[in-house]
Amino acid sequence: MVGAAPDGAGDPQSAARAVREMFTSIAPRYDLLNHLLSFNIDRLWWRRAAKSFAHILSKPDARVLDLCCGTGDMTFALRRRAGKSNPKILGADFSHTMLQQASKKSTGTSLRWVEADALQLPFPDGEFDLLTAAFGFRSLADYDAGLREIVRVLAPRGECGILDFGEPGGLLGSFYRVYFKKVLPAIGTMISGVRGPYAYLPASVERFPAPTEMLGRMRQAGFEEALWTPYSFGIAGLYRGVKSQ
Ligand SMILES: C[S@@+](CC[C@H](N)C(=O)[O-])C[C@H]1O[C@@H](n2cnc3c(N)ncnc32)[C@H](O)[C@@H]1O
Repeated sequence: MVGAAPDGAGDPQSAARAVREMFTSIAPRYDLLNHLLSFNIDRLWWRRAAKSFAHILSKPDARVLDLCCGTGDMTFALRRRAGKSNPKILGADFSHTMLQQASKKSTGTSLRWVEADALQLPFPDGEFDLLTAAFGFRSLADYDAGLREIVRVLAPRGECGILDFGEPGGLLGSFYRVYFKKVLPAIGTMISGVRGPYAYLPASVERFPAPTEMLGRMRQAGFEEALWTPYSFGIAGLYRGVKSQ
C-alpha cells in the first residue's frame, strides 16, 4: 500500500489521524503561510487548474466536488472560473477547523462545505462531473484507494484534476530543494508555532509517486485518459484524468 506516512504513524488509520490533527493545528494560519511560503504562486496554480476545466464549469447543471478543500482556495478558483453559469460546487475535507475557515470566507456565495473523508465519500456512484484535489491527495493514507473512490463518485466521462507538488530537476531543482527542505520548514514552524506540518511537507512530496507512476496508478484505478502538466518548471503539476464511459 502506498500513501502518506507522517512521522510515527504505523498504519493507515493513525496516518489519517495524524494528517487531520496536523491541519487542524495550523488551520488559523494556513492561508497566510501558504501565500507567504509560495510567494503567492499558489494563486496562479489554482487559477490555472480551474481554467483547465472551463468546459465543465461553464455548464449550469455541472456537479463539482473539490476534495481536500481545506480553507477553500481551489474551490473559490473553481467558483470564479464558473462565473455566471453557477454550477453546484461542493468542497469536502475531513478537518472541521479547515472547513470553518473556508466557511467564513464564503459568506454570500453558493459554495457548500461537507466534512468527509476522501477515502469514504458520502456520495452515491457517478455523482460528479468534475472532481479536483489541490495539495491534499498526497496526504491520503492509501493513494490507490483514494483514486478508486474518486473514480466511483465520478460520472462516466467525468474528469478529475489532482494538483500537487512535484520535484523539479536540474539546477533550479537543486536551489528549490534547499528552499523546500530547509528554509520553508524553518519559516513555517516559526510562524505557525507548530513543528510537525512544515517538516512533513517536503517529506510527503518526496514520498509521493513520480508522474509516470502516478499516471499508471490513475489508469489502473479506471481513468481512460491520464495526463500530467508541469506548473512552474515542475514545482507543482496537474494530473488530469477522464473516467471511462
Ligand atoms: C495542504 S491542504 C490543501 C487545502 C486546499 N486544497 C489548498 O489548495 O490550499 C490539504 C487538505 O487535505 C485534507 N485532507 C487530507 N487527507 C484527507 C482525507 N483523507 N479526507 C479529507 N480531507 C483530507 C486536510 O485536512 C487539508 O485540509
